[in-house]
Amino acid sequence: MDFISTRSMSKDLIEEILKSAKRFEPKKDFSQTLRGKVLATLFFEPSTRTQFSFQSAMERLGGNVLGFSTIEGTSVKKGETLVDTIRIISGYVDAIVMRHSKEGAAKLAADISPVPVINAGDGSHDHPTQTLLDLFTIKNNFKEFDGLDIGICGDLRYGRTGRPLSIALSNWRVKLHYISPPQLSMDGGTIKFLRDKGVQVKEVLKMEDAIKELDVLYMTRIQQERFPTEEEYLKFKGVYVVDKRIMSMAKEDMIVMHPLPRVDEIAIEVDDDPRAKYFEQARNGVPVRMAVLNRAITDSK
Ligand code: NCD
Repeated sequence: MDFISTRSMSKDLIEEILKSAKRFEPKKDFSQTLRGKVLATLFFEPSTRTQFSFQSAMERLGGNVLGFSTIEGTSVKKGETLVDTIRIISGYVDAIVMRHSKEGAAKLAADISPVPVINAGDGSHDHPTQTLLDLFTIKNNFKEFDGLDIGICGDLRYGRTGRPLSIALSNWRVKLHYISPPQLSMDGGTIKFLRDKGVQVKEVLKMEDAIKELDVLYMTRIQQERFPTEEEYLKFKGVYVVDKRIMSMAKEDMIVMHPLPRVDEIAIEVDDDPRAKYFEQARNGVPVRMAVLNRAITDSK
């Protein structure tokens, strides 16, 4: 099966992946699970965690990986279209993981590919496997989603992690606190979708106006590469910084998450705080992507 959009993942599917990922967590031998299968990782945009955790996940499952992390050295450089690239590569592999700067690129690939396609980020739109590992991290720390106050802070407009995380969380009774400058706020369509599903959504400008209530603070990077100009980006660079002062206002069991990479939005001094969970979150990419690959490849398309 494909993993393209978070909206189309049912609560049952999400729960099944989280449960399955738990099974893949311990360092047991899973090398027979996808033995002989081949995964293509096509990264048209930079990636560290997503690319390498998919690779690690596939190899731990006994499969093999081929792919590219820049278009240099591929026929894309000669002007080959995405459609042709997918047509060709899908003939060589059992599944495709793809990251692309254009919204909807993963859906297009899935429409023409006979093998499953997993969206590893399409523009500012979606990043479903990031959402799954974010949920996995929250569940590992709190056991239940119901009743949690979750703050999502930073670039909610261009970022592609806050929106799908919110959509997935709308399956439970959570309260969302959006912390952003008005110019980088969550789009109205998403807020309406969430409120229609019964989620309480509060929008604030300052971290200080939400921090005391939060169980989870999910920080995001200001997405420099998606701003029309450098000058526009510089207006927002460094607007939110979690440091010891902010942490001193937070609950004792609040957790800090971040999809990473961070630029300046979490001070290094926070790394030693037991509430800092972003490195644990990044590690969770492996078991969660093992569960996703297993489900994607085992289920016919
Ligand atoms: C994120 C992404 O690429 O959307 N990174 C990731 O996958 N962990 C977040 C970001 O780049 O800010």
